[in-house]
Amino acid sequence: MTLDYTAMGFITFDCLGWPVTAIPEGGGTTFIDDLTLAVSGAAGTAAIAAAKMGLSCRAVGGVGPDMMGDWVLQRLNQFGIDTSAMQRRPGWRTSSSIVTTRPDGARPALHMKGATGDFFIDDDLAPQVIDARVVHFGGVGLMTRMDEGRNAELARRAQAAGAITTADIFAGSAADMPAVASILPYTDYFMPSIEEAHALTGRHDLEGTAAFFIDKGVRCCVFTLGQDGAYYHHQNGTRFTLPAYEVPVRCTCGCGDAFDAGFAVALIRGMDAETAVRFAQATAALNATGLGSQAGVEDFDATWAFMERTPLRRSPATLAAVA
Ligand SMILES: Nc1ncnc2c1ncn2[C@@H]1O[C@H](COP(=O)(O)OP(=O)(O)OP(=O)(O)O)[C@@H](O)[C@H]1O
Ligand SMILES: [Mg+2]
Repeated sequence: MTLDYTAMGFITFDCLGWPVTAIPEGGGTTFIDDLTLAVSGAAGTAAIAAAKMGLSCRAVGGVGPDMMGDWVLQRLNQFGIDTSAMQRRPGWRTSSSIVTTRPDGARPALHMKGATGDFFIDDDLAPQVIDARVVHFGGVGLMTRMDEGRNAELARRAQAAGAITTADIFAGSAADMPAVASILPYTDYFMPSIEEAHALTGRHDLEGTAAFFIDKGVRCCVFTLGQDGAYYHHQNGTRFTLPAYEVPVRCTCGCGDAFDAGFAVALIRGMDAETAVRFAQATAALNATGLGSQAGVEDFDATWAFMERTPLRRSPATLAAVA
């Protein structure tokens, strides 16, 4: 296989400000301390964080013929990411967000959906796109054209070619289930946030929610639980919850996407399941220390050292979950 990692799907241009507590009244101005730009999204953040940690990466998605699209492509290239399968969609704007990060790191966003909904990988491009050791479908539910069966077909082909497939979603309710359900039989690691998993299934327990997806063909569920950590549930019976790391949080934007990148690095390096989840959470925690997706992620060695020295959070929810 030519590359380590393909991250396909939701790739956005983000403009982030910190700290924001309210939109000013009328036409007023509020002064803030920090402002930055980032390429974000379940595929964009994952590609950059993985590239920072040494994987050879390809980003696949859609941007518009606009300034945000220029910047997204330029930024991906700065990290050495292969953008040859990125598509400029005529008549579309680049998917973009204004992120108003609160003092506690929560990140309310104003999002314009854009070209993520319009890119399409045809049979000519498919072999190139799935030619990676790990093929990640990031933002299932937002890729309108790809979600109608095409993601499932590419995941099927990727697995048949010997790749490991991973998937993360953008789902608010059971209405997103058809797009997600189609890819599940061809997904080795399914990595949504627990809120999304609950919203999709209507279930509210960890084990039952994971069993639901495994019943639909997923090999392993890895649910992220925000500041409460992550839950791993493999069809082979391995199950555990691990707490998150104790970090000074600046912005949690892209934590789930950085987790996906860390998990891909762990798969490529052959880490065992618990180390993989710890490493993924270390990547996510470092992400939370900076403003803008993946800003706090440096490289593999720094993430590994962080993982070894940083204390874990012991929140009540985590203690209950591991009891
Ligand atoms: N406040 C926090 N402190 C430490 N770690 C955190 C915090 N918030 C999130 N994390 C880490 O990030 C991981 C992913 O977070 P979360 O479950 O919020 O993802 P998400 O909702 O999918 O995020 P995104 O929408 O950005 O993809 C968690 O498993 C945890 O390890
Ligand atoms: Mg997420």
